[in-house]
Amino acid sequence: MGIKKNSKIIDFCKKKSPLICLTAYTKYMAEILDDYCDLILVGDSLGMVIYGKNTTSSVNLQTMINHGKAVTRGAKKSLIVVDMPKGTYEKSVSAAVKNAKRILKETNCDAVKIEGGTKVKKIIKALIKNNVPVMGHIGLLPQQVINQSDYKVKGKTLDEEKIIIDDLVAIQESGAFSVVIEAVPKRLADKLCDISKIPTIGIGASNKCDGQILVTEDMLGYFDKNAKFVKKFANIKKIIRKGVEKYSFDVNKRKFPTRNNMY
Ligand code: KIV
Repeated sequence: MGIKKNSKIIDFCKKKSPLICLTAYTKYMAEILDDYCDLILVGDSLGMVIYGKNTTSSVNLQTMINHGKAVTRGAKKSLIVVDMPKGTYEKSVSAAVKNAKRILKETNCDAVKIEGGTKVKKIIKALIKNNVPVMGHIGLLPQQVINQSDYKVKGKTLDEEKIIIDDLVAIQESGAFSVVIEAVPKRLADKLCDISKIPTIGIGASNKCDGQILVTEDMLGYFDKNAKFVKKFANIKKIIRKGVEKYSFDVNKRKFPTRNNMY
């Protein structure tokens, strides 16, 4: 595939050690993650994490661009990928190219991510032909989720397994530089890692993947309930509650502001 990859994408694909990937939606979170991550994803999960929706379906292009801009303002060294939201790429090649180019130009990100495999092969090819680097996403596809009950492991049956393997092959044939594998059994994830010629980034997949990604707020412990694949590496909710409780107490007792905080 004849795409001129930028140096960040080349370095990402060449890196031997596990690829560290997380999501960010704001400048100051991106600034922190940039010291630790190879890739920062401006995921359309922001529909749920920031805007409190039940699914990612209603996220629009302008919202992704606004958050994409904020993230590229904060991160200087990581590869920045912005999700193309549902409805902005599946229907026509020309719309996909127009919307992806807008994302790249207005946010200054390095690549876009789109969900699906065989069904979006033509779209990925067209994006790459138009110099838009693409990351794929297979297995559980959050943009297909309508009800909470749709959030389940994919690829448990032989039929589903074949569809997901075909999706991976379609994605790599179309020239995507990397692929996210979400919520599939470890046995299938390992098979996908063996087949894949491009870096595999797991979320609920396998420790054999070339890298891992989680939603940052999930792994920081922002929410009480999470999918099995989330490990909480901190308890940010507890820390926030403690801080707000102290503030509330001090304001109540007129202990804040002190002379130090007044002019
Ligand atoms: O939208 C998102 O945050 C994602 C990750 C969960 C991979 O697609």
